[in-house]
Amino acid sequence: MTLPAPAVRDRVLSLPPTELPAYVYDLTALREHAAQVRAALPERVELYYAAKANPEPEILAALGPYVDGYEVSSGGELAHVARAVPGRPLAFGGPGKTPDEIRAALEQGVERFHVESAHDLRVLGALARRVAPTSPVGVLLRFNLAVADGSFAGGALTMGGRPTPFGLDPAQAPDILRPLTDGTYPHLELLGVHAHLASGLDAPEQLSVARSIVEWATALGVPLAEVNVGGGMAVDYARPDTRFDWKTYGEGLAELATAHPELTLRLEPGRALTAYCGWYATEVLDVKHSHGEEFAVVRGGTHHLRTPATKGHDQPCSVLAVEEWPYPWPRPAAEGEYVGLAGQLCTPKDLLARAAHAPGLRAGDRVVFALAGAYAWNISHHDFLMHPRPGFHFLG
Ligand SMILES: Cc1ncc(COP(=O)(O)O)c(C=O)c1O
Repeated sequence: MTLPAPAVRDRVLSLPPTELPAYVYDLTALREHAAQVRAALPERVELYYAAKANPEPEILAALGPYVDGYEVSSGGELAHVARAVPGRPLAFGGPGKTPDEIRAALEQGVERFHVESAHDLRVLGALARRVAPTSPVGVLLRFNLAVADGSFAGGALTMGGRPTPFGLDPAQAPDILRPLTDGTYPHLELLGVHAHLASGLDAPEQLSVARSIVEWATALGVPLAEVNVGGGMAVDYARPDTRFDWKTYGEGLAELATAHPELTLRLEPGRALTAYCGWYATEVLDVKHSHGEEFAVVRGGTHHLRTPATKGHDQPCSVLAVEEWPYPWPRPAAEGEYVGLAGQLCTPKDLLARAAHAPGLRAGDRVVFALAGAYAWNISHHDFLMHPRPGFHFLG
């Protein structure tokens, strides 16, 4: 069981059933966590927040004092983040940027572009000449670098070192570096290299990835000022009380930074910053038996919190018992210890947890799902079946 802080629990219990489900964000916890992350990192390492993990304006603003900037991956994110946290440095990445998105980013004065292909570079070069002719536009080349077989634990979602639509093939390095260093693009300035190779890595894995990226980048033989080693710090949904070991990671990065005094190292985590501050709260509508198992159907489901469906885990949760049962009909209750927690969708994939430890769970009890602050609401297919949207509460 993963218990929410008292303020979150009190808010969940104070809401009438008609105001559930609801996302409750603990901004106090978010600030504390972000401060700890920042304190564990060497001063010379820059921390950008990957807004795709959770772009709620309150979340972006709460992270403000602890991050050096924000990574955005679409024109929509760019406009949204610029509105929510005006004046903060932005890095614009993502495959398939449209000319309109690039133009808007240039007009807005975005500091850095993560270039994903030769075509991306040509479009940026041509538009920079027209839109931003006075000061050079910063470029980091994103490379899809190979990592040694078996470097990643089984749970990692890898997007580097194998065929993917992300970044440049390392074999293209000489051809892509040439026009950036021979005066072909006077309006672009090569700042460095970017690589986001996997999600779900623990600190030793992340360190080995960071070392390989820096080693590869510095061997290119061109002067570089920056290396962005990406995000992907693990969040363990099966062990919700554990945290990525930022201290060990920070110590390793400090050694790397000392070995390369000419480089600014940058990280861009999303999930490991915001997952822990979000809670998805709902109530049990029904409890039933099916072929030897028990299921509780809750208000809402994976159309609000898709994370367990996409990652294949049981979303950690806790039950807040509600004694009141205001209805004249009998109250359904679980007989066993473990209950599947399903949502209201007409698909067997709508499972928030296959086996939650919830002995005696009854209709009317509240269930609060933890680790719902990243890749949760914003990656879910909200309109499927046209159920009402959840409420949103920002505490602290
Ligand atoms: C380019 C890039 N940077 C950063 C991130 C953030 O990764 P995570 O949320 O796993 O830290 C992602 C996620 O997909 C990404 O694609």
